[in-house]
Amino acid sequence: MGKEPDETIYKECAEIIRDGGLVAFPTETVYGLGVSAFRAEAVPKVFEAKGRPSDNPLIVHVAYPEDAEDIAQTSELYYKLAERFMPGPLTVILPKKDNIPEAVTGGLDSVGVRCPSHPVAHKLIIEAGVPIAAPSANLSGAPSPTLGVHVMRDMKGRADAVIDGGSCDFGLESTVIKLFGEDAVILRPGAVTEEELSEVCRSVTVSDAVKNPEKTGERPESPGMKYKHYSPNAEFILLDTDSTGVINYVNSLDEKGIGVILSDEEIPRVNNAMVFSYGKKDDIREYCHRLFAIFRDADDKGVTKLFAPLPDDKGQSLALYNRMIRAAGNKISKTNQ
Ligand code: TXA
Ligand code: MG
Repeated sequence: MGKEPDETIYKECAEIIRDGGLVAFPTETVYGLGVSAFRAEAVPKVFEAKGRPSDNPLIVHVAYPEDAEDIAQTSELYYKLAERFMPGPLTVILPKKDNIPEAVTGGLDSVGVRCPSHPVAHKLIIEAGVPIAAPSANLSGAPSPTLGVHVMRDMKGRADAVIDGGSCDFGLESTVIKLFGEDAVILRPGAVTEEELSEVCRSVTVSDAVKNPEKTGERPESPGMKYKHYSPNAEFILLDTDSTGVINYVNSLDEKGIGVILSDEEIPRVNNAMVFSYGKKDDIREYCHRLFAIFRDADDKGVTKLFAPLPDDKGQSLALYNRMIRAAGNKISKTNQ
């Protein structure tokens, strides 16, 4: 966690929110770009600031799980999930109440509810006294911001204020689930895993769009699934091989602007490319934490083709897998070696 902002910052930012302005703030997943969920006329400014299509709904952030009552129809299962995972990186899609404007939900009759555990986000919501609708604070299509500097860069002149809370703990966006009675469907994988959810729900399934985003039809369950996302400007190439295969492939290339993502231990084996470490070998948590910052760093360093081995699709690594295949334009490439 980063620095603790002083009281006046909270007061000023809460007022901006209540007045219909935009405040970017840290959460335990990624930075959010917040607007009052009750200010229908202000909500379109978030879509404008990000360049985001208006049919892609926003998540609504509340200070306490029971505050969902103000905006959504909750259920017994919602409270069981809340007891186990809130506050924390889980978003639950529930039927919405009428006081949530359609602008927030992209015209859907459901709303995503999230209760963030980051102390700055928590305090901002309490000070504002209203639920805060917030997408990730990046320009649409770019990787979500995980550091204050990322937000400053993307949202300069677009947000009315930015609260810099340092580095976000998890680094990938929350797990998004939709409930059907006692069952749950994972629409977007995150820090809260299928296995953990299975301990609370009768059954948990992973939406097809998580692993095969391009198979998503015209009306995906989660509108965000249909957009290309999370990409660096560099071409991101996921290779269907292990790290040794990637090292051999990259070492065989004779091109400028090549970058590769590997572990600390593997990096010394790369001869002639820019290297980006995700941490110690198989440290998935650290990989999630660093992925989006690596994408931005690679662009800053002039990488034109960025390579990585295809990650595992189990546990928290499913979140990595999902963000990486989408950043790679839903393509897994072969090395032909
Ligand atoms: O970790 C996070 O969830 C971050 C932080 C700021 O809380 N927020 C975030 O928001 O990632 P955003 O807008 O970038 O992603 C929200 C995703 C989108 O894919 C959207 O389509 C989906 O959640 N979503 C939101 N409301 C939905 C709804 N009612 N039904 C289905 N999908 C929904
Ligand atoms: Mg986003």
